[in-house]
Amino acid sequence: MAMGLSTAKPYRRRLFLLLLRCTRTAEPSPKCSHHHPLSCSSPAAAAEPTHLRCIFRPGDPNRFVPGIPDAFWGVRQFSTSVDPISSGDKNLERIFIQNMPVKPIVVDGVDAVPIEDERKEEVDTVVANAEEGKDELCGGKVGDLYKLEGDLEVRQEKEQSEVEKEAWRLLDRAVVSYCERPIGTVAANDVTAANQALNYDQVFIRDFVPSALAFLLKGESEIVRNFLLHTLQLQSWEKTVDCYSPGQGLMPASFKVRTVPLDGSNEAFEEVLDPDFGESAIGRVAPVDSGLWWIILLRAYGKITGDYALQERVDIQTGIRLILNLCLSDGFDMFPSLLVTDGSCMIDRRMGIHGHPLEIQALFYSALRCSREMITFNDGSKNLVRAINNRLSALSFHIREYYWVDMKKINEIYRYKTEEYSHDAINKFNIYPEQIPSWLVEWMPDKGGYFIGNLQPAHMDFRFFSLGNFWAIVSSLATPRQAEGILNLIEDKWDDIVGRMPLKICYPSLEYEEWRIITGSDPKNTPWSYHNGGSWPTLLWQFTLACIKMGRPELAQRAVAVAEKRLPNDKWPEYYDTRSGRFIGKQSRLYQTWTIAGFLTAKMLLENPAAAAVLTCDEDLELLQGCACSLSKNTRIKCSRLAAKSQVVV
Ligand code: GLC
Repeated sequence: MAMGLSTAKPYRRRLFLLLLRCTRTAEPSPKCSHHHPLSCSSPAAAAEPTHLRCIFRPGDPNRFVPGIPDAFWGVRQFSTSVDPISSGDKNLERIFIQNMPVKPIVVDGVDAVPIEDERKEEVDTVVANAEEGKDELCGGKVGDLYKLEGDLEVRQEKEQSEVEKEAWRLLDRAVVSYCERPIGTVAANDVTAANQALNYDQVFIRDFVPSALAFLLKGESEIVRNFLLHTLQLQSWEKTVDCYSPGQGLMPASFKVRTVPLDGSNEAFEEVLDPDFGESAIGRVAPVDSGLWWIILLRAYGKITGDYALQERVDIQTGIRLILNLCLSDGFDMFPSLLVTDGSCMIDRRMGIHGHPLEIQALFYSALRCSREMITFNDGSKNLVRAINNRLSALSFHIREYYWVDMKKINEIYRYKTEEYSHDAINKFNIYPEQIPSWLVEWMPDKGGYFIGNLQPAHMDFRFFSLGNFWAIVSSLATPRQAEGILNLIEDKWDDIVGRMPLKICYPSLEYEEWRIITGSDPKNTPWSYHNGGSWPTLLWQFTLACIKMGRPELAQRAVAVAEKRLPNDKWPEYYDTRSGRFIGKQSRLYQTWTIAGFLTAKMLLENPAAAAVLTCDEDLELLQGCACSLSKNTRIKCSRLAAKSQVVV
C-alpha cells in the first residue's frame, strides 16, 4: 500500500557527501491537531542535536548505545496517553522510564534467587552433564545454548543440499538495511509483481520471526538484535488514525526503510523508518500479534545467543511492559482470553475471527510465558509479574477446558441442554447443539482432537486453525495429552491438513452463504484460497517445533519432504490454493521470504532438535495448581471439579 511521506516519522538518517548521520526531523501533524511529542514545537525536540551520537540510557549511567536515537526516551516521557486504572491484582503501575536496577527474579511464593547465580548453576549443571556424556535437555534453559553451539559447529561442517543453498541465497537477498546495518527481511522479493508491491516490500514483524530464527541458528545474531531494537523505537510512536490514538505499546505490523531527499535537495538524502500500525493496512486492523511475536523473538534471541544483557536493558524492559500493559488492562471482558477485532493476526483480513480467536490466545499465552522469564523483578514490576501469573493460570484453564474438542466432547455438546441460568451451568456459553457442523461429525477421528478457532456466547467456531494449535503445543498451553491429540489428528487427517503442500491455514474453508456473509464476499478469500483454507508453507517451522517438542519429528520430516519437492520449482510461493494445495495461490507472491525462512528453520530444527528445546516452554504445574485452588476456594464460582482436575491430571 502506498504510504505518503506525510506519515513519515521522526527517525531519519542522512546520506550527505558520504557522511552518514542519524538525525530526526519534525513532522507537522497531517490533519488532526495532535502534536507529536517530538515535533519541532516540542521543547524536547528543539533541544536535541541532530547528528549521530552516543545515547545515554537512563538507569545505566555508564553505558551508551551508539546510533540509537534517544528520541525514544523523549516520546515516553512526553506521552499524552491516559494512565491505566489501578485496582487489585490486575493493578499495573503507570509505565514510565525509571531507574530499574537489575534485581533477582522472584515469582510469588518462590524464594529469591539472584539471576546470575541461577544461570551459573544451570550452566554448571549442563557442563557437568556434558562431561558425564549425558545427552538430555534441560527443559529449554540457559545451558542448552552451550550444547546448541556445539551442535551448530557440527552442522556448519555438513554439506547443504542445493535447495538449502538456494534458500539461503534468497534469504540473504531479502535482507533490508538501515544506516548500513541489517535490520530485517522484506516480505517478498517478487519481481513479477513489482508493480503491485502493496506492502510486500516492507519488513513485517510476524514474517521476520522465521528469518530471525534461521539467522540465529546459523550463528548470525546482529540482524535480530538490530530488528529488536529498532522495532522497539517504533513502538513508542505517537500514532493516530483519524484523530484517534491507539495504545502506546502497539507494535507495527510492518515498516519500510525509505530513502528520501533531504530538505528538497537532490544531493542529500536521508533514510526514514516508516511504520504501519494498521493505519494504512487494508481494513485498518491493529496487528495485535506483532507485540506478542516481538516478545517471543526476544526470548529466543537470549536463549540462542546467550546475550541476556539485551533483555535486561531498561528500554527493552519498558517495551515488554508496554505490550503487556495493553494486553492486561481491564475492559469489559468476562473471559481471560484476549478480545480482538477480526484480522488482528496472520489472517489480517475479515475471516470471522473477531472476538477470542485461538491464534491470538496461543500467542498471548506464549508471550506471557516468555515475559515472565525476562521481566526484571523489582518494586515496580511485582504487580505485573503477579498479573501475568494470574492470567496464565486463568487462560490455560479457559482454553484447555472450553476450546478443546474431541469425539467425547462433541458428543457432550450434541446432548447439551440450553438456556441454563445458574453459576453451575454445564453449557456455560449457551451453545445450541444445532451448531455442530455436519462436516465435523464425520471428520473428527476417534483418537485425537484440537482446539477450536473461537468461542463466544452461543458460538463455537469449529474450524481447525493450524497456527493456534501449533503454538498451544509449543507453549504448553495444551496439556501433554491434548498436544498428543492434536498431532494424532493431523496424522489422521494428513490429506486435509498437509495434502500436496503443508500446511492448511485453517480447515475447512467457508463456502457459499457463509463465505458471502463472513468474509464480506472477499474475492481473495474464496473457498480453499489464501486465508480461507489455503496452504501456507511458512507454517512448517511452527509445526516442526511442535512435533519435535512432542517427540514426533518424523511427522515434521514427512511434511518438510512434501514441501521440499515443490517449493524451489514453484519459486517459493506465499501460499497454495485448492483443497489439497495443488495450485500455486491465485494471487500468491513468489519468493515470499517467510516461505523460504520457514523451510530453512524447519530443516535446521530437524537437524538439531536441541535448538527446538530452547524455543518451547514446558508445562508449569504451579500455574495449574493456582487456578484449581482459587476455583475451589471461591464458593460463588462453581467450576466443575472435573474441569479443574483435567488441568492437573495430564
Ligand atoms: C499477508 C498475510 C500476513 C503477512 C503479510 C506479509 O497480508 O496475511 O500474515 O504478514 O501478507 O507477508
